[in-house]
Amino acid sequence: MFDKLTKQPVDKIMQLMQMYREDSRDGKIDLGVGVYKNAQGVTPVMKAVKEAERQLLESQETKAYVGLLGDPAYHDAMIDLVLAGAVAREQVAAAATPGGTGACRQAFELIQMANPEARVFVSNPTWPNHLSILKYLEIETVSYRYFDEDTRAVDFAGMMADLDGLKAGDVVLLHGCCHNPTGANLNLTEWQQVVDKLNAKGAVPMIDLAYQGFGDGLDDDAAATRLVAASCPETLIAASCSKNFGVYRERTGILLGVSADASKSALVQENFSFLNRQNYSFPPDHGARVVTMILTDPALRKMWEEELEETRLGMLKLREQLAGELQRLSGSDRFGFVAQHRGMFSRLGLPSEAVDKLREENGIYMVGDSRINVAGLNEKTVPVLARAIVDAGS
Ligand code: LMR
Repeated sequence: MFDKLTKQPVDKIMQLMQMYREDSRDGKIDLGVGVYKNAQGVTPVMKAVKEAERQLLESQETKAYVGLLGDPAYHDAMIDLVLAGAVAREQVAAAATPGGTGACRQAFELIQMANPEARVFVSNPTWPNHLSILKYLEIETVSYRYFDEDTRAVDFAGMMADLDGLKAGDVVLLHGCCHNPTGANLNLTEWQQVVDKLNAKGAVPMIDLAYQGFGDGLDDDAAATRLVAASCPETLIAASCSKNFGVYRERTGILLGVSADASKSALVQENFSFLNRQNYSFPPDHGARVVTMILTDPALRKMWEEELEETRLGMLKLREQLAGELQRLSGSDRFGFVAQHRGMFSRLGLPSEAVDKLREENGIYMVGDSRINVAGLNEKTVPVLARAIVDAGS
């Protein structure tokens, strides 16, 4: 049997992680995978997470199964964090999932179960794993224009023109904030126009919200998701706690299904439960429990929000420093977009030869499409990157 297996396509982000690990050079810089690192290059366990874990160690008396959908208290806490009352609680079905990727996977399967004809519209570009999972599930995808390679901002006119191709029942995958990989985002006026278009076409939004709190703040980053959920008859939301709680390896995510008509929620919930049972049965609990404790305990929540805000502002500062340094060294404003982008990532728009050169000659690792993880930088490495970019002739 095993000899019938064929080689699988390489995941570029995972491959880059491996290459970085194997590079023995001092001074190598990892701007690849989307993992936050502090100025010392460490991905810390957040203080509130440590404290919640300490309390959990003392208080937890059983590791018995929780429920197929996870802990209802986790649902409530996350629904409040993401939607903040934008819709009534009864309108929302929820399932804990292994990370945001698990939530995306379950959402795609639900779409396929509900409507095998549905096509999923994806931004060009999008997170490569969206495309990979959709392909694996044999769901037809249609890409819509998103990123203007010249201005490094959103090509909104192109996006809207491509969304004209939507048919009733199609799904549009949108990044709630901090677009991955580009860093370029819609403003709220544009989101409203997208909502109007979706409703006019009878299409269903699916929002991937993996970076709430990393862009403009916890509420601002969820504003578009709240608008969509409150304005469309049906919305799917895949939210991740990996980045904003720094609990990457705990696999903590949630899938939400919002119905304008609350009487539909029970059916959605039942299907979420079925999907969890088929794919992995009970979702992981540890990260979800820690997140719930933090969100519901005022002292822990304050500690978490403060550290998250520090993280966000640190990334913004690095963006400004990099944009300034590039401006100084290149004598042009063409990298000003780095300070405008939000979240962990920016697509620099470098040719692939320059990306290879930076890796081979300078030990600077970024994804092949020239996406950098801003959080992989620090005050000292920003000038090194800026110099290398300018020397690479970009
Ligand atoms: C990324 O885009 O780097 C992250 O979302 C991590 C991953 O799983 O790819």
